[in-house]
Amino acid sequence: MTVEAAGLRPEDVVVDVGCGGGEAVRVAAECVVRGRAIGVDPSPGMIRIAKEQTRDHVCAERIQFIEGPAEKLPLETGSADVVFAINSLHHWAQPDRGLEEVWRVLKPGGRFLIGDEETEGGGWSHAEGDLSDQVKIRRLVESHGFDSVCTSRRTDGGDVLLMMESIKNAL
Ligand SMILES: C[S@@+](CC[C@H](N)C(=O)[O-])C[C@H]1O[C@@H](n2cnc3c(N)ncnc32)[C@H](O)[C@@H]1O
Repeated sequence: MTVEAAGLRPEDVVVDVGCGGGEAVRVAAECVVRGRAIGVDPSPGMIRIAKEQTRDHVCAERIQFIEGPAEKLPLETGSADVVFAINSLHHWAQPDRGLEEVWRVLKPGGRFLIGDEETEGGGWSHAEGDLSDQVKIRRLVESHGFDSVCTSRRTDGGDVLLMMESIKNAL
């Protein structure tokens, strides 16, 4: 659902921060036929699983998995068109630092999409504290310079995803 919401362009470089087993990276790679899809996760076990599950994928040559945390993304400044954080932001040890890093790696005009499962009570993700509160997440994202923040609720069968999309303004 996040990939669908992103409206990726064929030449985009997409980064999924906290990619886990890499499912969204593989789906994104099918859209970015002249670009790249990169998954980053601090867990060596998840990176190993992601690589194993991608080995025979039809888009494998434009997919990369790199070990590293959101707080120190192993990527060059201004190298990404789109960054995803799917069920991931509330796992980051230092969300402020992670958002600084997302800002750094995005190109001017690049987009940042946060996707999280809606909880049974209609709340944002399975997080506790500030990162379970949509208004506070929005303020956090805006405080790091992202603008045009837009939230939406997407459904697919029984799955419900809350999305927050924002842009690194081109100043
Ligand atoms: C619930 S899983 C989500 C995985 C995947 N995005 C998905 O939706 O299936 C959360 C992921 O965040 C990763 N994670 C934990 N700490 C992180 C950090 N500091 N920076 C980035 N990712 C982190 C975990 O290793 C895990 O793979």
